[in-house]
Amino acid sequence: MPGSGLSGPLTAALEAAVRAPSPHNTQPWSFEFDGDRIAVFLDPRRVLGVVDPDGREARLSCGAAVLNMRVALRAAGRRSVVHLLPDHERPELVALVGAGGVHHPAPADEVLARAVFRRRSNRRPFTDQPVPVRVRESLVRAARVEGAELFVLEEPARLDEAARLLRRAEHVQSQDPAFREELRRWTVEGRDREDGVPVLAGGPRPAVGSLLSLRQYADEDTRAERPYEQQPLVAVLASYTDTALAHLRTGQAMQRVLLTAASQGISASFLSQPVEVPATRTALRALVGGRAHPQAMLRFGYGFPSPGTGRRPAEAVVRRGGASR
Ligand SMILES: Cc1cc2nc3c(=O)[nH]c(=O)nc-3n(C[C@H](O)[C@H](O)[C@H](O)COP(=O)(O)O)c2cc1C
Repeated sequence: MPGSGLSGPLTAALEAAVRAPSPHNTQPWSFEFDGDRIAVFLDPRRVLGVVDPDGREARLSCGAAVLNMRVALRAAGRRSVVHLLPDHERPELVALVGAGGVHHPAPADEVLARAVFRRRSNRRPFTDQPVPVRVRESLVRAARVEGAELFVLEEPARLDEAARLLRRAEHVQSQDPAFREELRRWTVEGRDREDGVPVLAGGPRPAVGSLLSLRQYADEDTRAERPYEQQPLVAVLASYTDTALAHLRTGQAMQRVLLTAASQGISASFLSQPVEVPATRTALRALVGGRAHPQAMLRFGYGFPSPGTGRRPAEAVVRRGGASR
């Protein structure tokens, strides 16, 4: 990476980190490196004050960036050495990531590393082709590998209840002027911004009778109306504690689930509204058995190509430093 002093596996790790998903594409991270390891910081200026007042979703995003770094390091032939929240006095320092000893990449490592750059949120309607059971199981396993639980809402009654909570939360948010203003600030008309969600990346308006409502990145009346899939595959990603550490771990689980999906040709999009509104989050928790804390709700399926979103390039978000002793 010209001028940064970064090279080899750490460059690959950084290029992968910035591809992580984040709410409204805020990219709430920055990095510091000392030649040996990379410190990952949560950038408080990029935390969504209305939709994410506690920074939970920002920490999920930083966790996703860390998973991307781990995946990139393995594909580059190195183990990763990761410390989460290494300094209690500095909660914004969320991780230290170093390149460890030699790792001989397996084909699966390379598949996952390629998925980092292929994955994108797809808010468009999916086909009605069901996602095979073996693929669903691979998503559940991906979450477990990282210590989280993915509850797939198979029974129609549970799916209906999740859809009801989604509509309720969507309504609550749409009635809140501060929410609308925040969404407007992160919605991008053209393609000239490196953050935010381009209007084009938003989905069409679900036709009457569609089960799910999706976050709207453009005015209601400027969007075409289309039917969405009849039987959507929806899953809730949850953790067994709700601490900052759990958010970072679950962010890694979220990203492993998304990359596992993308590597098998499965599209995904987020349905976070019921997790963001406290009352519906409580109800969603009950829906998945009452023990685990919902962190993200996701929709999976076979999609058509969808437009991507911008990113601040890696060199714009990394600085030289003591990584971060
Ligand atoms: C924690 C989290 C919550 C998100 N919630 C939503 C959501 O409710 N609706 C939505 O359309 N996208 C949601 N997104 C997706 C982001 O908008 C998306 O990741 C970002 O625009 C970058 O685009 P990409 O995923 O295509 O790389 C969420 C992402 C994260 C990490």
